[in-house]
Amino acid sequence: MEHDDKPLLRVLSGRRVDPPPVWFMRQAGRYLPEYRAVRARAGSFLDLCYTPDLAVEVTLQPIRRFALDAAILFSDILVVPHALGAGVAFSEGEGPRLEPVGDRAGLARLDPTRLHERLEPVYETVRRLRSALPERVTLIGFAGAPWTLAAYLVEGRGSKEFLQPRLLARRDPPLFADLVELLTEAVIEFLSAQIAAGVEAVQLFDSWAGVLPETELRRWCLRPARRVVAALRERHPHVPIILFPRGVGASLLHFANEAGAHALSLDTTVPMAWAAAQLDGEGGLALQGNLDPVALLGPEAGLLAEARTILRAAASRPHIFNLGHGILPGTPPERVETLVRYLKSAGE
Ligand code: CP3
Repeated sequence: MEHDDKPLLRVLSGRRVDPPPVWFMRQAGRYLPEYRAVRARAGSFLDLCYTPDLAVEVTLQPIRRFALDAAILFSDILVVPHALGAGVAFSEGEGPRLEPVGDRAGLARLDPTRLHERLEPVYETVRRLRSALPERVTLIGFAGAPWTLAAYLVEGRGSKEFLQPRLLARRDPPLFADLVELLTEAVIEFLSAQIAAGVEAVQLFDSWAGVLPETELRRWCLRPARRVVAALRERHPHVPIILFPRGVGASLLHFANEAGAHALSLDTTVPMAWAAAQLDGEGGLALQGNLDPVALLGPEAGLLAEARTILRAAASRPHIFNLGHGILPGTPPERVETLVRYLKSAGE
């Protein structure tokens, strides 16, 4: 199948496809019983990410069940800090724990020289997926954005506020800039290697962009995103880039106008109709999103009505249907099935 015949890549090249292509953030994960079975066999979560046989299997699980247009590489944003030598552990029920970076000595412990060597199993997973996936399914690679990775590294764990990184960025901007710089280089290297191994599009997850005010957002999120996009466009001009600066509200428009990406993924706080109206005339920039993941847990009539509202709101633009954030662990897989069937018949 030609590059342009894949619905998702058509949309990322700036054209509309009806019905729009669909995939879901966290489409592989704990809501699927077959994922839980593999996860139980894998040992630690990082072992699952670094064992190509298992990572390929869980990437394919949602593709076998649902008529999705994309598979997202099964991995995690925290493999980059891990490959830089920061201790990373996923403890059951507690989320990730990292060896915190709080000063120059902590920064100096991060070592980029073995990045590719440590991430080689991820690249092997990509190579195997490219030959295993059905023809019309696009393989998406990803990385965490530098700010979000820095936030986990400085905080040492997940958080609602990420106070430590926000404070460090204000107390010692040169140190924080060096950390973000190191992560930006690592992210560019990681995404380039995923592309060389076979991913056809990439998404940059800036999950915690929303805790920063305007000036800080420009410095720690927008500027690094622009650098990642520019570097990838230069090295791999044919590979489209999706940005997901979660929670940034109206500042989304800066990302639309200044980052140079091919698509923006909207979180649930941004009305699709508002984004589409603001971007009127803005070339072929595609919008992705943005159904509330909680809708998949609620009554079916509400779920489909909400999906229809999003389809209509995005009707003027190249659109990829997705959620505003990842699928929740308690989601019934049959609901996902119902939604995908509805979306695939919506254009008829
Ligand atoms: O299907 C997919 O979307 C691909 C795989 C994927 C995972 N994590 C698997 C995963 C992707 C794209 C991610 C991205 C990721 N990881 C983000 C950005 C997106 C977002 O959600 O904002 C972030 C912030 C992380 C960091 C992370 N990984 C956290 C905070 C946690 C613990 C919270 C949780 O849900 O348990 C993880 C673990 C994780 N990553 C799981 C999965 C399927 C669950 C772990 C398990 O199976 O025990």
